Amino acid sequence: MRFTSAAACLILLALMSGCTYDDLETIGSPVDCDVFDVSYGQDILPLVADNCQGCHSGSTPSAGVAFEEHADIALFAEGMLDRMDREPGDDLLMPQSGKLDSCSIVRFSAWIDAGKPNN
Ligand code: HEC
Repeated sequence: MRFTSAAACLILLALMSGCTYDDLETIGSPVDCDVFDVSYGQDILPLVADNCQGCHSGSTPSAGVAFEEHADIALFAEGMLDRMDREPGDDLLMPQSGKLDSCSIVRFSAWIDAGKPNN
């Protein structure tokens, strides 16, 4: 009797942690990802500087497009998001070195939805 309830308890625990894991997977982004407080100066520009400007800046930027000023980044934002939000291994994925973490991509998208403020 004791063994049975212990076993049942273990199975329940396994199922419960299984559920939690599935829920996180379905959401597809970290649960602590803050999409309500995105700043151009503190979030978007540093993200682009660290991951894109190595190629997309200067006098001969890759693909002829530079992402340096707010105006450039606002103009190209949808195209930039499209390139960031691709499957790993996709030839068009940017940066080419590997997909950014999902929270960064979700926050970039939230900044677009907020009207690309220069905040
Ligand atoms: C290692 C260099 C490199 C880095 C880093 C890089 N890119 Fe690129 N990017 C390229 C090259 C080369 C092309 C042209 C080939 C192509 O379209 O894939 C390109 C093309 C693009 C284009 C298409 C431009 C057009 O209108 O033709 C977009 C949009 C883009 N990159 C966005 C980004 C974003 C956003 C980042 C950062 C998250 C980034 N890239 C980081 C090299 C880079």
